[in-house]
Amino acid sequence: MKKIKKAVITAADFGIDFLPATKAMPKEMLPIVDKPVIQFVVEEAIASGIEEILIISGKNKSSIGNHFDRNVFLEKLLMEKNESEKLAVLAESDVPNIYHIRQAYPNGLGDAILHAESFVGDEPFVILLGDDIMPNGKPLTKTLMDLYDKHQTPIIAMMKTGIEELAHSGVVEVVGVRGENLFGIRHVFEKIGSSVATNDLGIIGRYVMTPDIFPKLHALSADAKPHLQLTDAIEALNREQEVLAYEYQGERHDAGDKYGLLIANIELGLKHKETAQPLAEYLKELSKQLKRE
Ligand code: G1P
Repeated sequence: MKKIKKAVITAADFGIDFLPATKAMPKEMLPIVDKPVIQFVVEEAIASGIEEILIISGKNKSSIGNHFDRNVFLEKLLMEKNESEKLAVLAESDVPNIYHIRQAYPNGLGDAILHAESFVGDEPFVILLGDDIMPNGKPLTKTLMDLYDKHQTPIIAMMKTGIEELAHSGVVEVVGVRGENLFGIRHVFEKIGSSVATNDLGIIGRYVMTPDIFPKLHALSADAKPHLQLTDAIEALNREQEVLAYEYQGERHDAGDKYGLLIANIELGLKHKETAQPLAEYLKELSKQLKRE
């Protein structure tokens, strides 16, 4: 039985929703209070016991590589200034064993994952989407890895997202209970919209996969679709072997759109030691004002 040691983090999307901020900078580097979105994702992978990470990025994304590398110049400067706290903060994003590969053109999540084929080899692995964060509690990735140890089959994460959200996400139609919050899958669909969905379970950005997903992705390529969807490959895989769906019930922020990033900043700003108190006071005042309007 092979243990999961590798993670693939996708960060190739152009981030058009955030223009002009993302004209020259990756959307995954936008901050939540003081930390780039993708650092939350890398931290979740490491906290789950992942040993090697491949980040799939694209054009204008080289700052992601720089961010997880040491910055010796800045270290020296902070040492001279005796800024030991800031030095510790800096060290949190020095992550060895991160590899980088670029997707030349944004051809969809499925195409991005195909870039991980040789990195993955013949091992099971996790996929984390670089703009989806689950910041508190037991890391969702760890939960999925533990479930994989037990069930030895691919598992995707889903949660109740609200029916109107399904136009922007993958959708899961579950069948049968396989454990606590764990279900079989009848079908998965990509962004079908609320009119067709039979429930409000949306796919969120964490998956445990085996290399069996790659032939399915290649088969989609052969169909010459412009955007290869991971969801379509999972649907094909589930026809041959059982793929399970785990219902996550914790905190999650889709920092891949404006509203999600704003909410994440408010929620985590209310927990950050420097901003919690003034932000809470500001929000109380603001809500009084909004009630009066
Ligand atoms: C991707 C997946 C989708 C999933 C979503 C989660 O879509 O294709 O199935 O529900 O991430 O955030 P994207 O947000 O990249 O359009």
